[in-house]
Amino acid sequence: MTTMSSAEPTRRDFLYIATGVVGAVGAAAAVWPLIAQMNPDASTIAAGAPIEVDLAPIAEGQVIKVVWRGNPIFISHRTQKEIEEARAVDVGSLPDPQSDQQRVKQGHDQWLVLVGICTHLGCVPLTRQGDYNGFFCPCHGSHYDTSGRIRRGPAPANLPLPPYEFVADSKIRIG
Ligand code: FES
Repeated sequence: MTTMSSAEPTRRDFLYIATGVVGAVGAAAAVWPLIAQMNPDASTIAAGAPIEVDLAPIAEGQVIKVVWRGNPIFISHRTQKEIEEARAVDVGSLPDPQSDQQRVKQGHDQWLVLVGICTHLGCVPLTRQGDYNGFFCPCHGSHYDTSGRIRRGPAPANLPLPPYEFVADSKIRIG
């Protein structure tokens, strides 16, 4: 009797966890069709065509990945705290000195758009991780900040910025 009653909450806990995972996957899947429908077909993109990305579905604090010319592109909707952290740094002390303002478009400071390829040996970094809560490359331990600038580890340079522009208040064209 005792064994049964202690087993039941465990099964229930599992169900809650499983439901939570399905919910998270569903939310991520919902973003992709919105992005996909605005892009040219795959062969045109592979040939280097610009892609347009609607930023409206990207929640504050969320980072999405899109692919442009075969490269992963990170689009981060930064929080006020992340912007402030990026701007509180002494630029001269950085391995690859660049102000946060140089890495975003004026008036769109919350949007950080990066090529998601580590400048050390080309791994794809993890987002919102590492010592600076920006990007972390687990291959050899490079830590990038909330502006995508290298702060610690073997990578020699900041995460690159792809060519892009705002074509509307919440839409960019990459390429
Ligand atoms: S490839 Fe990223 S740290 Fe080496």
